[in-house]
Amino acid sequence: MESGQLVDAYGRRHTKLRVSVTDRCNLRCRYCMPAEGVPLAPREELLTFEEFQRVVRVAVGLGVRQVRLTGGEPLVRRDLPELVRLLAAIDGLTDLALTTNGVLLAEQADALFAAGLRRVNVSLDALDPAVFAELTRRDSHRRVIEGIAAARRAGLAPIKINVVSLRGVTESEVVPFGHFARETGLEVRFIEYMPLDAASAWERSKVLSAADVRAALEAALLPLRPVAAPTGSPASEYEFVDGVGRIGFIPTVTAPFCDTCDRFRLTADGKLRSCLFSLEEVDVRGPLRAGVSDEQLAEVLSAAIAAKGPGHRVNHPDFVQPSRTMSAIGG
Ligand code: 5AD
Ligand code: SF4
Repeated sequence: MESGQLVDAYGRRHTKLRVSVTDRCNLRCRYCMPAEGVPLAPREELLTFEEFQRVVRVAVGLGVRQVRLTGGEPLVRRDLPELVRLLAAIDGLTDLALTTNGVLLAEQADALFAAGLRRVNVSLDALDPAVFAELTRRDSHRRVIEGIAAARRAGLAPIKINVVSLRGVTESEVVPFGHFARETGLEVRFIEYMPLDAASAWERSKVLSAADVRAALEAALLPLRPVAAPTGSPASEYEFVDGVGRIGFIPTVTAPFCDTCDRFRLTADGKLRSCLFSLEEVDVRGPLRAGVSDEQLAEVLSAAIAAKGPGHRVNHPDFVQPSRTMSAIGG
């Protein structure tokens, strides 16, 4: 095993880190949060921008090349462009991206671009405002659409749209999203609904599979053909056979891609999670605030990756849902 790199017991090298900057959110998506929200970490438990920067710098020293900021909703963290500026300055980090629900993007797109952000994924589960409002329990559809437009004007590219595939909810949206991908040139990615919701209401029967979404798109529009995805992307990428419109699928449930997993997570309150579905976390906030050296911090990171399991157990009878929801893990 190579020393100094984040290689786990199964030979997987970890080059991607997702950083959740807050567990707060301005939507209440039914598959993620209950109407009243979830208990939030006290503010003093959230890492500071300097602490995030330090962990990312040490991770880059261990081979991390790509960082994605997530939440909760990352844009509700005050002064996020300042964190982007701190991270963009780290030597050796080749890709800095953001996943947002888009509600505050219109206000912040220019500042984010100026700070060094280059690309963004926007979560938008419905093009129909009524479906959006029902699913997110908020009336923010128009603001998300405006946010996507502002991100384009600001120069952020590529912009990808994330759609959670929920049976009974997303079906009516699949074909409109197919047209949307063709008309806007933005890649639309369908993500299978995962057991990371607050109410533990996930059921396999509520997952609208990638195969079903694909069949619906092909029946209503045109056949899809695979396009070479950038290595390491969990999305299988397709385009319509006339070359217009790109569609991605993230089949976490029906076709897990754990064998090639190259990512881990840092939560807003300073815990490392080697997998979305981890039941164990490794604390970095304590060591950071106790004054560890960079070398010691590197060891904490390496140990967290070394202890990573072979894959998620969503499809096993013994599956146990993590107690944190997606909003507290970071998508
Ligand atoms: N299953 C699948 N995707 C989810 N997300 C949040 N909760 C779930 C879930 N239970 C998505 C968000 C966003 C990304 C960060 O994760 O909609 O696109
Ligand atoms: Fe907020 Fe994202 Fe959860 Fe929706 S899925 S409530 S946007 S954190």
